[in-house]
Amino acid sequence: MEELPGPVVVEILTRLTDSRDLARCRVASKSLNTVSYEVLWLNMVCSMALLLKLLNAKKTIEVGVFTGYSLLLTALAIPLDGKIIAIDPDKKAYDIGLPFIKKAGVEHKIDFKESLALPVLDKLLEDPSNRESFDFAFVDADKDNYWNYHERLLKLVKIGGIIIYDNTLWGGTVALPEEDVPTPKRRFRKATLDFNKAIADDSRVEISAVSIGDGFTICRRTP
Ligand SMILES: C[S@@+](CC[C@H](N)C(=O)[O-])C[C@H]1O[C@@H](n2cnc3c(N)ncnc32)[C@H](O)[C@@H]1O
Repeated sequence: MEELPGPVVVEILTRLTDSRDLARCRVASKSLNTVSYEVLWLNMVCSMALLLKLLNAKKTIEVGVFTGYSLLLTALAIPLDGKIIAIDPDKKAYDIGLPFIKKAGVEHKIDFKESLALPVLDKLLEDPSNRESFDFAFVDADKDNYWNYHERLLKLVKIGGIIIYDNTLWGGTVALPEEDVPTPKRRFRKATLDFNKAIADDSRVEISAVSIGDGFTICRRTP
C-alpha cells in the first residue's frame, strides 16, 4: 500500500470526518497512514459515531485507548454532559493524543484510567449504581480477554445498549487454516475464533458481524 505523508492524510481525514483534531490525533499515533487503510477504518468509526448518535449514548466505556482516536471520536459524538470511562495501561500513548482531545474541547467527558481493564470493570461492578447504567461500550484491546470483558460489560450496559468488539476478523486470519497464519498472529486468531463462536451462541445479545476493515461485531443487549 502507498504510504502518504502525514499532512496529506490529515487533509483527507479532515474532509472525511469534519474534524481536524480527530484527523491530527489519528496521524499522531503513527500507527497506520495509508489512505486505503484509513478509508476502511473510517467506515468503521463513522458507523460507530452514527450508532452513538442514534442511541443517544451519554455514558460509555472504552477498553483499549492507545492514542485516543476512537475515544476522541466517541467524545465528539456524545452530548456535552456525556461521560466515557476510558481504560488502558499505556498512559504514554494516551498522552500523545491528549493535546488533540483538549483542543477539541472534550477532555471533560473523559475519565481515563491507567490500568488493565478487568480490575477497573470489576471495581465498577462493585457499585450497584453502575450496573445496567451504560449506553455503549467499545472494546479494542487484548483479544484473549474479550469474553471476560463481555461477561462484565453485559452487567454494566443497559438492555438495548450496544457493545462493539473490534478486530473480529483479525486481519482475515479467522478464515484461514492455522498453518497459513504467521505464528505471531496465531494466539489472537484462536482467541478471536473462540470469541466469535461464543458470541454467536449468546442469547443475551443480538449481533451483527460487520466485515469492514479488520471486522467488528456490534452487540445489542436483549431483554
Ligand atoms: C489497538 S489499540 C487501541 C486503539 C484505539 N481504540 C484507537 O482507536 O485508537 C489497543 C490498546 O489496548 C491496550 N490494552 C492491551 N491490553 C489491555 C488490557 N488488558 N486492558 C486495557 N487495555 C489494554 C493497549 O495498551 C493498546 O493501547
